[in-house]
Amino acid sequence: MMHKRITLIIALVVISSLLLAACAAPTEAPAPVEPAATEAPAAEEPAATEAPAATEAPAAEGQQLEVFSWWTGGGEAAGLEAMIAIWQEKYPDIEFVNAAVAGGAGSNAKAVLATRLAAGDPPDSWQGHAGQELIGAYVSAGQLEPLDDLYAANGWYDVFPETLIPLLSQDGHPYSVPVNIHRANVLWYNPKVLTEKGVAAPTDFASFLTALETLKAAGMESPLSLGEAWTEVHLFETVLLSTVGPEMYTALWLGEADWADAKVTEAINNVKKLMEYVNTDYATLSWQDASKLVADGDAAFNIMGDWADGYFSGTVEGGNLGLTPLTDYAWMPVPGTQGVYQFLSDSFVLPVGAKNRDAAIKWLELCGSKEGQDAFNPVKGSIAARKDSDKTLYGVYLQSAMEDWAKDVVVGSLAHGVVANPSWATQITTDWGAFVIDFNTETFQAALVASCAEFGPCGK
Ligand code: GAL
Repeated sequence: MMHKRITLIIALVVISSLLLAACAAPTEAPAPVEPAATEAPAAEEPAATEAPAATEAPAAEGQQLEVFSWWTGGGEAAGLEAMIAIWQEKYPDIEFVNAAVAGGAGSNAKAVLATRLAAGDPPDSWQGHAGQELIGAYVSAGQLEPLDDLYAANGWYDVFPETLIPLLSQDGHPYSVPVNIHRANVLWYNPKVLTEKGVAAPTDFASFLTALETLKAAGMESPLSLGEAWTEVHLFETVLLSTVGPEMYTALWLGEADWADAKVTEAINNVKKLMEYVNTDYATLSWQDASKLVADGDAAFNIMGDWADGYFSGTVEGGNLGLTPLTDYAWMPVPGTQGVYQFLSDSFVLPVGAKNRDAAIKWLELCGSKEGQDAFNPVKGSIAARKDSDKTLYGVYLQSAMEDWAKDVVVGSLAHGVVANPSWATQITTDWGAFVIDFNTETFQAALVASCAEFGPCGK
């Protein structure tokens, strides 16, 4: 545990004083904090491409709770539904208004949320990511209430990992309640396809490339499946980690390693090689579509976060694939990242000006509870954020993830809000979009250098 703790602390883009302050566990809620000068507010998010798809119309009267997320599809929706079921049992008189907006990784939801916040119309609680997405956007903009009292009253300072709390905190005050821990650096594969083609599961990046080449030579046109833009950035962050290693990966986000370094060039060239093996229609596919290509045997591999486990193994009635782990699908850390847990954490917030503040607090209590987390996570494909969850409720993949979480080196995800503030992450996504047109390594690397200087800590 100790090496993990140390590494995560190094990995925090949050300044180290936050860690010390968080440990002090203040009991009084302070006023909202001042925005940090170097971070851009969430209002700079790109415009929404889809209208919010509220699944239940608010009732004209009576008590309500409006919860905003992007969990609308298989696995994701099932997890949310499990919490809604508990809510309805506990609070039958408070209508749960599910304001989820479809689109993996919040690709549409975040923009819709930004529009609502700009209009002074916050949902009662929304899904955010631990780390810079939360701190560099919503907290900086003064949009959230600190949750010190709630943390103290619910014993959360003891039950959430002490390495996670600083990522949810500013000036020692926690601003959100984590419901889970996800892993980003997972390579999912179809073991039947590998056996059929006589290909061994890779052990490192070189053998991964060999496996892809062998499959292609055997007639599989696109052995590595890929989806829309954020999944491409997700692929990039895992290859970056694999190529430069966890220490340099973390140092890059902290402005303590050079984005112009030859190792970053190598990482870009590595991801460029992988792009030779992906389906040509990737830009139009959701993450579920890309996962399904593996399940159906049309591709052998996919790199995706472990919400894919919820989709692979969840019920068909629930919009999932109903597959058997280790038989129909299998997993390993992205080759070259064994022993490293590239994490992210979904967490819920209490906005300043929540229309149904009391109900929102009840919701946060449910999110942070053992009951809520052990209902949500086994179907969502994540492990509990709490340290006391009941392991027996979780499937074979998630049990293995719990073991890794307890011993691996921990670093943060780019595509899911941990290491870069939203403006920086958005810029990298834009630059990646240009890269996949001409595959010019030099241009992309220069853009990475520039975006760290403009939006990140480089040169500051
Ligand atoms: C992540 C989120 C996960 C999952 C995934 C795909 O950003 O943290 O909970 O929903 O997107 O949509």
